[in-house]
Amino acid sequence: MSSAPIGVFDSGIGGLSVLRHLHRLLPCEDLIYVADSAHAPYGDRSPHEIQARAEEITRFLTGQGCKLVVMACNTATAAAAGTVRAASPVPVIGVEPGVKPAAMATRNGVVGILATRGTLQSAKYGHLVNRFGREITLISQICDGLADQVEAGQTTSPATRSLLRRYLAPIMERGADTLALGCTHYPFLIPLIREILGPGVTIIDTGGAVARQALRQLREENLHPDTQRHGGLSVFTSGDRERVARQMEAFWEGAADLHPLPSIAPPAIPFQAEKISPPA
Ligand code: DGL
Repeated sequence: MSSAPIGVFDSGIGGLSVLRHLHRLLPCEDLIYVADSAHAPYGDRSPHEIQARAEEITRFLTGQGCKLVVMACNTATAAAAGTVRAASPVPVIGVEPGVKPAAMATRNGVVGILATRGTLQSAKYGHLVNRFGREITLISQICDGLADQVEAGQTTSPATRSLLRRYLAPIMERGADTLALGCTHYPFLIPLIREILGPGVTIIDTGGAVARQALRQLREENLHPDTQRHGGLSVFTSGDRERVARQMEAFWEGAADLHPLPSIAPPAIPFQAEKISPPA
């Protein structure tokens, strides 16, 4: 089992920002990545739709023999971590906006969070803010369309720059000294964000923390292989493979083989015959 792959998924290629930390920290592990590009962005979808996608993808990954599943998507974690964990035979790690590390990092107590509509409107985010955001001024900014810009490879275009300027304006106006990226697509925008914010603002990307958590979990369960070999990467997508191949070229250093994502039906609910008592 320790030589089994780790499964990672996102609505599209955003989760590669988490995958690169996993690959750096756990170079011997085989990785399977699912880009659910046919259903991206998740940010505008209902929690119900996201749960169905997340459960189906987790079924696929565990069917491939994965020993651990990483939901490399804040929106999917917010909507579906509970149901996915309940149904998965292997441990599931999710990602959530870095409210806690941001609250610890801020010096002036003003923090900005960028995330999707789905994430920021979720009950899970409300709990996170109640737990870790009470002592700080938190500006939670919904970033409609921003993940799409990254999906389209537009990480430096004028359109992305003006969208980011608009979303960062309220955060800058309040004088935030810390910004947490609550969507796994956004780390690919760090150079542009840094250019707009200037050098004084701490930017928090939780990808590294997620990789460290994966390592801890594997060690705890004795599932981390003790080997010098180099792990491989297989990518599956529900979307257009040529597009994903181009995205991989832009966002991933290294080789990967690319496959279509098969659809996996939910397990049948066992039929329970109703007991009919004989007439007295
Ligand atoms: N990368 C995802 C996240 O972390 C989802 C973006 C989207 O599909 O809207 O939230």
